[in-house]
Amino acid sequence: MIFGRIKPLDAILATAAKKSLTRTLGPVQLTLLGIGAVIGTGIFVLTAAAAQKAGPGMMWSFIIAGAVCAIAALCYSELASMVPVSGSAYTYTYAVVGELLAWMVGWALILEYAVAASAVSVGWSGYFMGLLKSVTGLEIPRALASGPVWTMNGLVPHADFSMGIINIPAICVALAITWLLMIGTTESARVNAVLVAIKVTALAVFIALTLPVLKTGNFSPFTPQGWFGPEGTSGMGVVGAAASIFFAYVGFDAVSTAAEETKNPQRNVPIGLIGSLVICTIFYLLVAAGAIGAMGAQPVTGPGGVIVQPGSAGFVAACATPAYAESLVCSNEALAHVLRVINWPMVGNALGLAANLALPSVILMMMFGQTRIFFVMARDGLLPEKLASIHPKWKTPHIVTMVTGVFVAIGAALLPVGQLADISNSGTLFAFFMVAVAVLVLRIKDPTRHRPFRTPAIFVVAPLSAAGCLFLFFNLPVDAMLVLPLWGGLGLIIYFLYGYRKSHVGRGLFDTHEQDADAPPVPVPPLPGAPTPGGRDA
Ligand code: ALA
Repeated sequence: MIFGRIKPLDAILATAAKKSLTRTLGPVQLTLLGIGAVIGTGIFVLTAAAAQKAGPGMMWSFIIAGAVCAIAALCYSELASMVPVSGSAYTYTYAVVGELLAWMVGWALILEYAVAASAVSVGWSGYFMGLLKSVTGLEIPRALASGPVWTMNGLVPHADFSMGIINIPAICVALAITWLLMIGTTESARVNAVLVAIKVTALAVFIALTLPVLKTGNFSPFTPQGWFGPEGTSGMGVVGAAASIFFAYVGFDAVSTAAEETKNPQRNVPIGLIGSLVICTIFYLLVAAGAIGAMGAQPVTGPGGVIVQPGSAGFVAACATPAYAESLVCSNEALAHVLRVINWPMVGNALGLAANLALPSVILMMMFGQTRIFFVMARDGLLPEKLASIHPKWKTPHIVTMVTGVFVAIGAALLPVGQLADISNSGTLFAFFMVAVAVLVLRIKDPTRHRPFRTPAIFVVAPLSAAGCLFLFFNLPVDAMLVLPLWGGLGLIIYFLYGYRKSHVGRGLFDTHEQDADAPPVPVPPLPGAPTPGGRDA
């Protein structure tokens, strides 16, 4: 039975019990870890795209996306405190709804983590270019600092290279981070705390300088594109902007992946997850209010007032006209641009520098998360075990890190930040949806198991979380929405060609080694009803 391959929760918990990582993280470090992974390209860059989609109404978009994440965080917290091991949503679904869906979640998490790393690399590139120009007057030609503009011709993507060819700064930052990860650099809690302080200070200064010059007239019209965008558009309006700006919150689940290194995870993981979300939402709302109030955030239009999607050819052409040269929505470094326009050029540059220093840590967290998920999937036999091999000197999964880095760099080289973020959101929303399903199924199937943290009103919160994820997913632009089934279809083919036969669980092996992933898995007698060894579970 294809849905019968479940990795027993007790085998997963035995893995956790064998872990020898010291539990050092407390609630404050965990909250800082969450903020460190969350604040990045979303607020620093995608504020411009959100304004193009929703105008000042993007403030509602931040609230909607934040609310969906907060509800998802409540579901994550129950599973993360019960199953404090690596692999995040992939591991939870393996234990609850089985291998096939776990594989699909792990496969979708590639979109979340690797594509998000590409998006943040492109966001970094925008700030790098802005800072370079502002400080030295030098400009790298657009063709070499921006990928092509993509349009869909039915299901066939078409690239227009007239506006950009390759984003070299984004490739450089992605490969530099790959190298750091390969040689074993992970961010210490102390470095993270410093980078969080830099980001939070930059945003606080932005708020302090923009709110006093706020003009209430800039908030009107408040929802120029309506709630769902004008007729015939996709992914526009307040809700479309919420689906895109959801990216600004992605990464809070990194907190759950640190559960194994957390003191009293039962109490501290939920505090870290929800605390970081609340703090980020407050910052985002104040930053959005400041940006809108200080310089206005009305969408640009094409010839004859045509509505244009951010990142589209029409949008790039509109932004090239003098009328929109200063517009917030056209800027690749939205927050620094606002400060320059309101006559704080040096502070704008300092904010650009802060973004340049801090965004690489978000790339690092995303790529680290990706390598951990690949690593756990390879250890479970669903991907070639060679991928999980550890470098003898660096002690890192160097092969999987290199493969991840190359794909991240290719994505960053060729796609615009908004499209990458939307694609990443489609994978993340699927993973969050599955977590909501898993937490509910486990409550029904195994109601008496000890739950250090219980999601309140689970029978309301979990369905609400699943519905919230579906709602945002179906308000993404059509292209980004299409990526998930296409990517999922490819994943299914790979699963049936490879993982289905090689799976350790399918072969009756339950790996309880966390640290030395190269060690052969420990055979245990198959559970009653479990698939027979040999890779066939017919
Ligand atoms: N939330 C992260 C960012 O906005 C991924 O960069």
